[in-house]
Amino acid sequence: MNNAPIGVFDSGMGGISVVRQIRQDLPHEDILFYGDSAHAPYGTKPTEQVKELSFAVTRHLLSRGVKAIVIACNTATSAAAPDLRSSLSLPVIGMEPALKVACDRGEGKPQNVLVLATSLTLREKKFARLVEQVRGNNTIHTQACPDLVSLVESGKVEDRDLAIKTITSYLKPYDLNSLDSVVLGCTHFIFYRNYFRQILPDSVAIIDGNAGTSHHVRTILEESGNLADRPDNYQGQVTLENSQNTKELDLLARHLLEAPLPR
Ligand code: SIN
Repeated sequence: MNNAPIGVFDSGMGGISVVRQIRQDLPHEDILFYGDSAHAPYGTKPTEQVKELSFAVTRHLLSRGVKAIVIACNTATSAAAPDLRSSLSLPVIGMEPALKVACDRGEGKPQNVLVLATSLTLREKKFARLVEQVRGNNTIHTQACPDLVSLVESGKVEDRDLAIKTITSYLKPYDLNSLDSVVLGCTHFIFYRNYFRQILPDSVAIIDGNAGTSHHVRTILEESGNLADRPDNYQGQVTLENSQNTKELDLLARHLLEAPLPR
């Protein structure tokens, strides 16, 4: 049993969508979230730079006594997860676009899947290996959506018209009626889930990796004997930190943590 906080980080605000999920699934755990907004976005940067930034954030979380590191960022996971794992003795849990879940939905019937993520996630070997594993007879399209990251970071996710216009422009090249699913392969995109639902035909499933990651966190903590041991009525504390450390970003982070997803 271990009552130290779980350390969660992201390039900015997107990882708060993962914190929401972990808090729901593991309500007795304290969570320390660090958003690296001073260096966001990660998805358009070179891999080496994202690796360095991820190590710097991880060192900070370790100095705050966390019991595990959750990389709540597909981009940072692609760039840094293997090196972080081999250099740390505590558990490191990463993200990956839920492409396997999307392909498995077909139960053998070929699936037409669109994966939305950052440029870095889509060009990294980790993603190429994942596509190789699941491709079979499935058709897999990919689309980088950098503006969806910057809208969250600038607090504009609730500007419905702007969000719908931006999403529509990214989906324009695709025949939406022919898709079986859209994979949200970046934690920032979760905040747009309701907008995607309005734009996509009902037949298209919207899939993300947050629930899978949260489940993985539980399994790893359970197996290593590190789940928190607290009274049933204990409500886990979430601490939000940010490299930019402004009042505006603090308010934005709290809003993204507590408010219902924009509609
Ligand atoms: C970004 O910083 O570009 C987004 C990171 C991610 O969640 O993949």
